[in-house]
Amino acid sequence: MKDRSVDEVVARLRGHLRPDQISIHPVERLVYGYDATWAEGVPDVVVHAESTADVAEVLRIADELEMPVVPRGGGTGLAGGSVPMVGGICLNLARMNRILEVDPVDGVAVVQPGVITYELQKAVEAHGWFYPPDPASLYMSTIGGNVATNAGGPRCLKYGVTRDYVLGMEVVLPGGEVLRLGGRVMKDVSGYDLKHLFIGSEGTLGVITEVTVRLLPRPPALGALAVAFDHLESACEAVVAILSSGVLPLMAELMDQGVMRAVEAFHPYGLPVEAEALLLLAADGEEEAVRRDLARMAREVQAFGGRVVRIATDAESATHLWEPRRQVSPAIARLATHKFSEDITVPRSRIPQMIRHIQQIAQETGVPIVLYGHIGDGNLHPTLLCDRRNPDEMNRVAQAATRIFQAAIELGGVLSGEHGIGLLKLDFVSQAFPPIAIEKFWAVKLLFDPKNIMNPGKKLPLPRNWS
Ligand code: LAC
Ligand code: ZN
Repeated sequence: MKDRSVDEVVARLRGHLRPDQISIHPVERLVYGYDATWAEGVPDVVVHAESTADVAEVLRIADELEMPVVPRGGGTGLAGGSVPMVGGICLNLARMNRILEVDPVDGVAVVQPGVITYELQKAVEAHGWFYPPDPASLYMSTIGGNVATNAGGPRCLKYGVTRDYVLGMEVVLPGGEVLRLGGRVMKDVSGYDLKHLFIGSEGTLGVITEVTVRLLPRPPALGALAVAFDHLESACEAVVAILSSGVLPLMAELMDQGVMRAVEAFHPYGLPVEAEALLLLAADGEEEAVRRDLARMAREVQAFGGRVVRIATDAESATHLWEPRRQVSPAIARLATHKFSEDITVPRSRIPQMIRHIQQIAQETGVPIVLYGHIGDGNLHPTLLCDRRNPDEMNRVAQAATRIFQAAIELGGVLSGEHGIGLLKLDFVSQAFPPIAIEKFWAVKLLFDPKNIMNPGKKLPLPRNWS
């Protein structure tokens, strides 16, 4: 981006926004150059939008002057999606943080994109409602970011991912046009379903400025189990057995020994660190159903050598039992200078095989890998520990990461279940999709964003005839 055009963009923005909504200060630009990965970039200008009209002005000016725009929520992404790699405008939506409506009759909430996920959950729970998607970053991540990445989380095993709760949205397209998609109805087969194109689009099509989510009645009871296993593979087999037995747990999460030890070092919870794996299971619903489901799960795990080390039969103790799971990401960040967090997902029946592949890949490449994840979904976060300053180590990390992705795809799985492709997984997309699929992705992209100003260089690799 030439300096002249940055000056022009800033001058034009100043015609529409207050001075405190625009920053070209070098420190502020640096601060907005990160997410939760090692990716870093520096935007030319940071804009704090406060309304749909602000966003429309920004996209009108940016489109006209062909300036890249990188929308940003909580900055908690795990794929580099909100990192401004080619400069341009960092469009911060955090100030658009109002819950506009909680409607108990329609069973929906209408929110601005900068609402923190946890704030939405608390607000609807106060009315006896429930918003299930619960990404690990929920205390910091925003609904706009959740929708843009189609975020998941532990409770998605039973309740589905963010996509399953978005009924409607308002988006601003490059050029500044405002478009409303979907609405507040449960069923809708009118028109093409453009809303679903925006869900998980990682800021590459337009900017989400309002979201209508569906709510469920809040389940009255919650219970949980912690089960230790001497063999990692047995823990995986136990999960497969539970899921085939007619019980659908609220959550089924795995931590290997390395993860347990990291969490214990972070905060002593009393996890069974001598075991090779820990399975955290939970059930919700009516009190009697919760008791019955916990008992069935406890019975199932026995056949695989699982030892129930803790049982929680009320919501408060269940939340406490699950607390170590929330600490996994920060805890393992302390294990090494850098970490590369994967997010592969395989069909449930393939989980034990996938785990064996990961163990073998760690052994053969010598890259330390700790493993945790939403095992009930087949969505695993093998995390590669490394030091980016060491080229030999990084070569081996690249090899290990590629082999893990390939193994997941060969088993019928995908590159990313909930974090997105962003920047860090981009190289692998061409292996996961045939060239025709990538061409169609680009056709969709250019339909909405003909000048490729929306988060360029993310999510989509170049098509075959462009290289
Ligand atoms: C988690 C994030 C990393 O599951 O997805 O903790
Ligand atoms: Zn996760």
